[in-house]
Amino acid sequence: MDKFVIEGSKNLHGNVEISGSKNAALPIIAATCLCDGPCVINNVPNLADINTMLKLVENMGCNYSFANNSIHIDCSKLKSTKAEYDLVRKMRASILVLGPLITKYLNAIVSLPGGCAIGVRPVNLHIDALKAMGASVNIEKGYIHATAKKLKGTEIYLDTPTVTGTENIIMAATLAEDKTTIYNAAKEPEVVDLANFLNKCGAKISGAGSSTIEIIGVAKLTGCEYEVMPDRIEAGTFMCIAHATHSTLTIKNAPIYCMHAIIDKIKEAGADVQIKDNDCTVISHSNILPVNIKTFAYPGFPTDMQAQFTAMLTLAQGTSIIEETIFENRFQHVAELNRMGANIVISGNKAIVNGVKKIYGAQVMATDLRASASLVIAALAAENTTEILRIYHLDRGYEFLDKKLQALGARIKRVSQ
Ligand code: EPZ
Repeated sequence: MDKFVIEGSKNLHGNVEISGSKNAALPIIAATCLCDGPCVINNVPNLADINTMLKLVENMGCNYSFANNSIHIDCSKLKSTKAEYDLVRKMRASILVLGPLITKYLNAIVSLPGGCAIGVRPVNLHIDALKAMGASVNIEKGYIHATAKKLKGTEIYLDTPTVTGTENIIMAATLAEDKTTIYNAAKEPEVVDLANFLNKCGAKISGAGSSTIEIIGVAKLTGCEYEVMPDRIEAGTFMCIAHATHSTLTIKNAPIYCMHAIIDKIKEAGADVQIKDNDCTVISHSNILPVNIKTFAYPGFPTDMQAQFTAMLTLAQGTSIIEETIFENRFQHVAELNRMGANIVISGNKAIVNGVKKIYGAQVMATDLRASASLVIAALAAENTTEILRIYHLDRGYEFLDKKLQALGARIKRVSQ
């Protein structure tokens, strides 16, 4: 098990290239199970989660190769429609094969995802929607057993705009009879990227990116070649790194068009932000200002950026209030940041971050993907040395983070234990 050793309090400088989006690539890989032909998916980040999804579809009979951030994959002849617990427990997003399997093969056995560090995260809305489309769904021994004669399009209203729930319904509806309309759908850019991929394969999806999405079922989908969008959360993470370390960084190939909430808050925290096409230069030569944040579904402030901002605001000149409204247990980084000398108090779903002059290196433990990114930010801004344990969490969602940081002048080492 690897750990990071980071020498902090050093200005960074230079350019960093943003990788493809994990949360766009995962549903797109699952969607290739809908296609009657091979697909080529480009700009796919080389991450643990991507390899878990590829393993999952390979176990069902897909053939693929993955090199140089490109996947060549053919899922047109699946031999099994079972997603095993052993893989699903590693990555909840495995639930994304449910929609494609039930609509194309009319049966699916998919392990329930189980517990998660950041919250209960049920999948009831995914299951209710498939039932509304005519599937019969039972839970047996921790597995979702779904069968159907043929899925039928209908009107689905989502209690909450679930991201992977919306993606599962879109995929199920592409080969269903008639029209499906999703109300209160998730508007995340990753949902739009999935819809664009499917439309390129012959699907009839309109309204993606809005809260009402319409899908007219088609008989079959072909394969296609598609470029995954860049990762807005990785780009946002580097923006926090720039301001927390009082550096000037140019973040290249960032999906600026869908990062308004993040950029507004970085500016509010006192950083200067200059944008040129898809490149964003963050210049931090002034103090970090306190900022209040409330997480929301897109286009609100993303919960996946909450921990990174919390880390940056530990050094703000004043008090920031951070309210987490999406997941009920997403402040596990706080105890670790307080071990580094931060002064954060949790009250219900709020973190009150009282800015301090300095934070100090310590041994800290990563607990989930974004919490581990927040510890990297704190370590880069801290005095002395920090050791971050359990960085396998980080490798799930950041491609070559240590190498990218070394290229910016950071003193970071990956040490295998
Ligand atoms: C996606 O998870 C992302 N994962 C998450 O990113 C992200 O945090 C989340 O959306 C919110 O933006 C991927 O795209 C692979 P939700 P998802 O369903 O789809 C409740 C990261 O760090 N809910 O939109 O699982 C749920 O409990 C990860 O990259 C139900 O109640 O999130 C939560 O409170 C972490 N019933 C809320 O909706 C359901 O059936 C939003 O969750 C589904 C969800």
